[in-house]
Amino acid sequence: MTQRRLVLPLLAFLVSILAFGAAWLTFDPMQETPTSAIGGSFSLTAQDGRTVTEKDLLGGPSLIFFGFTHCPDVCPTALYEIGQIYKALGPDGDRVKTFFISVDPERDTPEILKTYLSGFDPRITGLSGSLEAVASVEKAYRAYAKKVPLDGGSYTMDHTALIYLMSRKGRFLSSLNVDRPPEENAKLIASYF
Ligand code: NI
Repeated sequence: MTQRRLVLPLLAFLVSILAFGAAWLTFDPMQETPTSAIGGSFSLTAQDGRTVTEKDLLGGPSLIFFGFTHCPDVCPTALYEIGQIYKALGPDGDRVKTFFISVDPERDTPEILKTYLSGFDPRITGLSGSLEAVASVEKAYRAYAKKVPLDGGSYTMDHTALIYLMSRKGRFLSSLNVDRPPEENAKLIASYF
């Protein structure tokens, strides 16, 4: 009886040692954050027609924001705040790319994105693509987006409003809180140059 009672805890102990060993073997000390399961490869079309991939994130910290041009308030506010961060960064802002990925590619063609973004900081690049390409990048970044029908046959998009701060190696660092003063966010971003 006593022996049988000991078997289960002993087994559990052995299993946990094995699991820890496996985790240790797969641990990559070069990973900047253990949460870098966010992100991945993508291929989208910029507002000027050129192809943008995950390789365009390399070289400097970058920001990624999912939204759409028909958004009544969240997106324009975030894009405005990103512009304030660029102002706070000064000339260093040229080292930071921002990608505004449309979750509504059916309406947000590169031309529409170009016109819409002309009202914001020029360092913000609008990205669009096929429904499949956009769904794939949303999945990679664990972003949520859903069509919500409106009265009269139109629709709006429910979507993740996180601003992703990515490292110069293209890895996810943290989300950016634009309720903080732009100077603080500028400092945070500059710490990743
Ligand atoms: Ni929005």
